Amino acid sequence: MGVVILKPITVENQEACLELTVREDQKRFVASNSDSLKKAMEEPSSKPHGIYAGDVMVGFTLFDLEPYPNDGFYWIVRFMIDERFQGKGYGRAALIEIINMLKLKQAPVKIRISHVPDNIVVNKLYKEIGFIETGEIIGGETVLDLIITA
Ligand SMILES: CC(C)(COP(=O)(O)OP(=O)(O)OC[C@H]1O[C@@H](n2cnc3c(N)ncnc32)[C@H](O)[C@@H]1OP(=O)(O)O)[C@@H](O)C(=O)NCCC(=O)NCCS
Repeated sequence: MGVVILKPITVENQEACLELTVREDQKRFVASNSDSLKKAMEEPSSKPHGIYAGDVMVGFTLFDLEPYPNDGFYWIVRFMIDERFQGKGYGRAALIEIINMLKLKQAPVKIRISHVPDNIVVNKLYKEIGFIETGEIIGGETVLDLIITA
């Protein structure tokens, strides 16, 4: 199982973040990191983080450190592992790390994530970690929630 740490994206590591990309056939599942960094500027509750294995940035995630004002959920807005580093356990470890960070917030902590409906790999991963499909489709994507009550 991969071990990762999350570090905020700053001017120092922004270039490394922009170099990360998924496989060609996965590009319809997640926006480019360049697009995600722009989105991060527009959404004050969402903070971009590099996913690190040791000193190497292997992936990227954008998630809320404050509940999204419209619905009270901490959204995991973007989540990707670079194609060179997939299948090594880093994706699973990063999600657990995000959840552990959010668990420190005041309960109940309502975490929400969504995916393109036919992204079978992440659907399985999210459910294994404890997310439950809500039955909602938002922005064309399947929605899953993880509610931590204490
Ligand atoms: C989804 C993603 C983040 C997973 O990251 P990862 O580091 O490759 O995942 P892990 O190595 O932690 O594996 C987690 C599970 O994913 C599945 N998985 C990973 N790679 C897979 C592959 N190539 N084929 C099938 N299943 C795969 C496995 O079920 C694995 O579980 P296991 O540990 O029981 O084998 C990564 O594949 C990715 O960036 N995909 C493209 C972008 C994307 O879909 N983002 C999600 C947007 S909502």
